Amino acid sequence: MKIVQAASELFPYLKTGGLADAVASLAGTLADQGHEVAVFLPGYRAALEHPHAAAAERRLRLKIEMGDEFLTGDVRVFSPRKNLQVYLVCREEFFDRRQPYGNGERDYEDNADRFIFFCKGVVETLRLAGLQADVVHSHDWQTALLPLLVRDAERKHGVTLAVKTVFTIHNIAYQGLYPRGVFARTNLPEELNNVDGLEYYEQTNLLKGGILFADRVTTVSPRYAQEIQTPEFGNGLEGVVQAREHDIVGLLNGVDLAVWNPATDALLPARYSAANLAGKRICRTELLKRCGFAVDFPGPIYGMVCRFAEQKGLDLLLANQTFFHRQDCRLVLLGSGEARYEEAIRAMAERSPAKIMLSAKLDEGMSHLIEAGSDFFLMPSHFEPCGLNQMYSQVYGTVPIVSQVGGLMDTVTDVDAHPETGTGLMCPPTAAGLRAALHRSLTLFADAPRMAATQRRGMARDFSWKNAADGYARLYQESL
Ligand code: ADP
Ligand code: GLC
Repeated sequence: MKIVQAASELFPYLKTGGLADAVASLAGTLADQGHEVAVFLPGYRAALEHPHAAAAERRLRLKIEMGDEFLTGDVRVFSPRKNLQVYLVCREEFFDRRQPYGNGERDYEDNADRFIFFCKGVVETLRLAGLQADVVHSHDWQTALLPLLVRDAERKHGVTLAVKTVFTIHNIAYQGLYPRGVFARTNLPEELNNVDGLEYYEQTNLLKGGILFADRVTTVSPRYAQEIQTPEFGNGLEGVVQAREHDIVGLLNGVDLAVWNPATDALLPARYSAANLAGKRICRTELLKRCGFAVDFPGPIYGMVCRFAEQKGLDLLLANQTFFHRQDCRLVLLGSGEARYEEAIRAMAERSPAKIMLSAKLDEGMSHLIEAGSDFFLMPSHFEPCGLNQMYSQVYGTVPIVSQVGGLMDTVTDVDAHPETGTGLMCPPTAAGLRAALHRSLTLFADAPRMAATQRRGMARDFSWKNAADGYARLYQESL
């Protein structure tokens, strides 16, 4: 099949979270399976500075209609592996910035324009380059208008750009909700400017476009596919999701074993496998050293790597800080995002500097070292569409402590409830729930054979992307 993917993140060119990993793995796996894959990404500064993009060819000049004006841009293309082309939709004014979505404090004022321009750039490239796709697959609010824009351009120009459109919700909490005036920038027919279209309580909701108008809608775990049809998790769009209840399917993400594999991971000081965990101990020592902790510490190390956002349950961690101050354990946190969390966690770490370490930045190498060197990985999320780190943890022999929500429920089995098959510890997303799970982790850690068996079962789980990519390929095929 000829498959086009479009997203606002793509590993290794631009990543703030799991979206980048998921899109890269899906595209790469489909390409390896012999499909012809084109992935579109905004031409961010970081992407253009990546060595792969140095050889990018400037393929097309764009003139994009945005409301009643035209904005120019260009498209650069490179091929990082067989069957895979990466298209960067460039316009300096929009994408030559250090961060993709905002300056850390606030989102950029022109985000609606930036991503509408990006989507239109994708459509215009498909048209000008004659890239007749079997499937155009877009992800999250930034590219949610693609299904509509593809059909609109086909109508206007009398061409076929895509046989089918697929839209994936990676996170329904981010919707691209803007003042009503933004609708004019889409140049879509006025009949879409109402409650059956993009309107949402007197505003324009871009995500709604993808959910309502793609031929098929997916999300990133079976559990989340159910959850987003309820008020608790639907963020106000539960009714819209319910309208597509028969077309929506939850396909679990996987682990890209070329990137996340303790047996081959070049970012680690030592490699290891379930058969020989000696390398994991070296990673542990290195982690303790990097944190400035005593390297012979024998007790449990807890790791956490995440965006500092409400979703991730940092409030639950903070509510349990006494545990980390009092117990004989270590806590290593890596993350960046909202300042209120960073400040609170920093204050917590400063109270017990010999036990708690915060690294407030994006650090790919450190994220691998934490996965490898920790005994437990914390993910007390309030909601989690899929979550990747709990899968990475299991692959790395690190026992995840997770909330009973979303994809976490689909990928972790509680070892106290299921002693023969358990791979982690699960709890309700509350402070008391997490506290109980933390205490259970001490008991598990003290029982070395049970701890080792739990680690090994996690390492034996098959989270490979092949399963996920097969699911998407089947879905594309069915829709065709
Ligand atoms: P989400 O997409 O909601 O952020 P996921 O668990 O799906 O959550 O994916 C998060 C990804 O981002 C993981 O690969 C994780 O290692 C990575 N990540 C998050 N914060 C950082 C950071 N500060 N440095 C490096 N990687 C990070
Ligand atoms: C989103 C979700 C996360 C998921 C990722 C990749 O960022 O928050 O749970 O794993 O997308 O699909």
